[in-house]
Amino acid sequence: MGKVIVGKASDIPPGKMVKVSVDGKEILVVNSDGNYYAMDDTCTHSGASLSEGQFQDSIVTCGWHGAQFDCKSGKLAKFPAKINNLKSYNVVLESDEVFVEA
Ligand code: FES
Repeated sequence: MGKVIVGKASDIPPGKMVKVSVDGKEILVVNSDGNYYAMDDTCTHSGASLSEGQFQDSIVTCGWHGAQFDCKSGKLAKFPAKINNLKSYNVVLESDEVFVEA
């Protein structure tokens, strides 16, 4: 398990998504209304990077075929086919710095 800095909290305002690499895993960190959440960046449908999709109202929408995931849990929120949830990770705020534990 590694702990990796994502960036300064002030550089990740509400509505922003940031992709980081932790121990070879691509992880998406988002700021939803001032709270930080993290989950796998790779869409469980066909492998798109979710960081290239859309983020609104705690929902991350994949830019390829529109699968929607809840950023708070990584769970699939909406998609016509049954696909896996994303793994979510712990985010820690220390001073003005955001870290993800994965
Ligand atoms: S790759 Fe994400 S919805 Fe198809």
